[in-house]
Amino acid sequence: MSLIVEETSVTPPKIRQTGILIGDEFRPALSGKTFKTVNPATEEVICEVAEGDAADVDLAVHAARAAFETGPWSRMDARDRGRLLSKLADLAEQHQEELAALETLDNGKPINDSRAADLPLAIDCLRYYAGWADKIHGDTIPIRGDYFCYTRREPIGVCGQIIPWNFPLLMVAWKWGPALATGNTIVMKPAEQTPLSCLRLAELALEAGFPPGVINVVPGYGPTAGAALVKHSQVDKIAFTGEGTTAKIIMREAADTLKRLTFELGGKSPNIVFADADLDAAAAGAEFGLFFNQGQCCCAGSRLFVEESVHDKFVERIVQRAQQRVLGNPFDLKTNQGPQIDQAQLDKIMSYIDRGQAQGANCVTGGKRSGQRGFFVEPTVFTNVSDTMDIAREEIFGPVLSVLKFKSPAEVIKRANDTCYGLAAAVWTRDVKKAHQVAASVRAGTVWVNCYDVFDAAAPFGGFKMSGIGRELGAAGLANYTELKTVTMSMG
Ligand code: NAI
Ligand code: MG
Repeated sequence: MSLIVEETSVTPPKIRQTGILIGDEFRPALSGKTFKTVNPATEEVICEVAEGDAADVDLAVHAARAAFETGPWSRMDARDRGRLLSKLADLAEQHQEELAALETLDNGKPINDSRAADLPLAIDCLRYYAGWADKIHGDTIPIRGDYFCYTRREPIGVCGQIIPWNFPLLMVAWKWGPALATGNTIVMKPAEQTPLSCLRLAELALEAGFPPGVINVVPGYGPTAGAALVKHSQVDKIAFTGEGTTAKIIMREAADTLKRLTFELGGKSPNIVFADADLDAAAAGAEFGLFFNQGQCCCAGSRLFVEESVHDKFVERIVQRAQQRVLGNPFDLKTNQGPQIDQAQLDKIMSYIDRGQAQGANCVTGGKRSGQRGFFVEPTVFTNVSDTMDIAREEIFGPVLSVLKFKSPAEVIKRANDTCYGLAAAVWTRDVKKAHQVAASVRAGTVWVNCYDVFDAAAPFGGFKMSGIGRELGAAGLANYTELKTVTMSMG
């Protein structure tokens, strides 16, 4: 007789690495300091992690510099670099369950999401860039005269990579994939809220056989470890994902050494629903586009524009969907909304909800913290939102949806573009011409038509305007990790 036990929840994993990775060794901070990483669902401390600062960053940068200049990595065939990345993808896949559980423990995202989104996307990204490693090459150029002219794409050097907490492991994959495929070396600073999955992947990278110093990881805080990386003279490039105000600091601090900079920042993405859309699909897409990952997505569809003639019935569907969301223990398989990342984010979200109410928007569902333990916020929907309210202009980064009413395509395009951001947008319609018109007119790096949050390692992602500089993913993501060299040889 076989006993089939239906899985209802997942057990949190054992923590393996909490040190700073420099070369091939995980070690304590030189200062001996540690910081706590917290489970946002329970507010309990998971463990202490080594707190790197400028001194540790300096060691890590020297290890990365040595690996870039003289190590086996600098002489390795491109195809072998690809094989190492591919091996890392395989190891991540073998440890998929452990990594997914680690992500849920440290970040609070539902285990279903870690399993179905974060892990498969991260593994796919590493594998995608593994395939690029031996396909990055220059051109031969027919210049005037008796010359042979060609270009080479060479790695930039030591890349400092600073990432946020909303998709901890996926952000590692987006940063490591293109940097390693092109032959750079890395010093990464994971977010102080979520260092654990990055450290575990770094351990797997050593197991895969990456030479010492190619990947270094310094957990710690932004103004100390992050800033030291930005200022270091031996770091050639900073790739940053996070808040716009942090990007401005980084840009100023990086000026002295004229580092290459790529930024992936926030948004206030318009999600536009026309009356002729499949409204069931649009409602599902509007829910997913905003509430996925607890609303903590740079591309969250936080401004939902609904055509006037269907506004009321569409709001009804959205409210119903918001109320059906299941908040709770993220390790429970029924849960589809976990806690926000920390107290600071909880407070920020609650202050936006207060301001929405004070400025005259109508809170039709939610609007409160959920429970006393863990940073949970009720799925919240505001109607009667006008373009000038804070909840329509600023990035909330939480489960708070603002619904705005519109009458015509020209009007909605103008209002959609009335923002300093330009990361993503979506349009829902059955009219092909209208779909293409909106897609062409909205100033954003990504436009989804009759879908939302469709990501693929091969499709470039990044922002217009204050949502970013440069693109990640796809072939475009490689350009930010190479210097172009022109070689001209006399044939006379
Ligand atoms: P943040 O931009 O401060 O942090 C992101 C990363 O930058 C972290 O690793 C942090 O340690 C580092 N950092 C902070 N200050 C730094 C400095 N002076 N120099 C170098 N590195 C530094 O974002 P935070 O405080 O976690 O979140 C605040 C808001 O930012 C959120 O409410 C949300 O609106 C937005 N955000 C946007 C993200 C996106 O994906 N676009 C991701 C996370 C946050
Ligand atoms: Mg900050």
